[in-house]
Amino acid sequence: MRFLTWLKPTWSQLHLWNYFGSIKQMIDLAKANPDSEFFLFLANMHGFTQIHNQEEMKNNSMMAIKLYLACGADTKQFVIYNPADIPGHAQLNWILTCITHMWFMERMHSYKDALNKWKAKEIWVWVFCYPILMAADILLYDADLVPVWKDQKQHVEYARDIAQKFNNTFGETFVLPEAKINPELWLIIWTDGRSKMSKSYNNYIGLLDDEATILKKIKQIPTGSQTVEESKNPDECNVYNLCKLFLTETEDKELRAKYLAWWLSYKYAKEYLFEKMMDFLRPIQEKYNKISDQEVKDLLAKNAKYVNEISEKKIKDIYDKVGFNL
Ligand code: TRP
Repeated sequence: MRFLTWLKPTWSQLHLWNYFGSIKQMIDLAKANPDSEFFLFLANMHGFTQIHNQEEMKNNSMMAIKLYLACGADTKQFVIYNPADIPGHAQLNWILTCITHMWFMERMHSYKDALNKWKAKEIWVWVFCYPILMAADILLYDADLVPVWKDQKQHVEYARDIAQKFNNTFGETFVLPEAKINPELWLIIWTDGRSKMSKSYNNYIGLLDDEATILKKIKQIPTGSQTVEESKNPDECNVYNLCKLFLTETEDKELRAKYLAWWLSYKYAKEYLFEKMMDFLRPIQEKYNKISDQEVKDLLAKNAKYVNEISEKKIKDIYDKVGFNL
């Protein structure tokens, strides 16, 4: 079985939400499916919709790959590659564009959202074509399962429908991919008490933040106004909700008991959170700092060879079927 997942280089730093909402989920999924391959591609062609700056694109890409590795992605199971090394993505993109109708794309949620915000002529062309490129990313490798969040489900269904259309016209060519919906993590309360961690709210904790920055952000977390003597409901406390991400079951029970008893101060809870968070982040940061740019480049070069073999074979089959190869 082949899973397909991605890294989008649109962030200068990945944060805790990226870890718990995405990286960890993928690593756990890989562990639960030891016989499956995980194709993990750098979605730079997609990131280019937002990032028009060479340095930023390169730095974000390097950082994202290194962080995935530092978080424990096993390179034997995760095939990390850069579509810049694989011409098949762009080649297939065009083929699929030519078999797709406007009416079909006009049903897209993200396009409709854009139409609600802007006049049609103000919308970037990529908004409209984006799911076709995504379909190419998926179909090129006959991926069986694509783990996504709900917001991307329709895009994977587009890939499936477009694949079906090609198969109907030119004969069985593509595996029909299925979306596997990731559990959402909206329940986590971030450092400002909002339900979502975001760079624009500046309420996130970066996986590479240093101790001083993290301490400052933890100090800013709003808490209740109960005194030390009063019992507190852990589930209503932002500090607890963040803390439990890092606790074992026993530690969690102990902390809950302290909240419910009469003597826990919010200051103590924050110190405990800091300690637990750093215990989690330190090894990731140490590992991250040891990975050189060259190591990443070597890994991408090695995987490009493997992935290109699959891609070239697929493109040859497609080009044969449509009559490009004489
Ligand atoms: N659309 C995804 C995002 O914005 C990135 C992506 C590009 C993708 N191609 C894909 C996801 C193929 C799944 C499959 O985050």
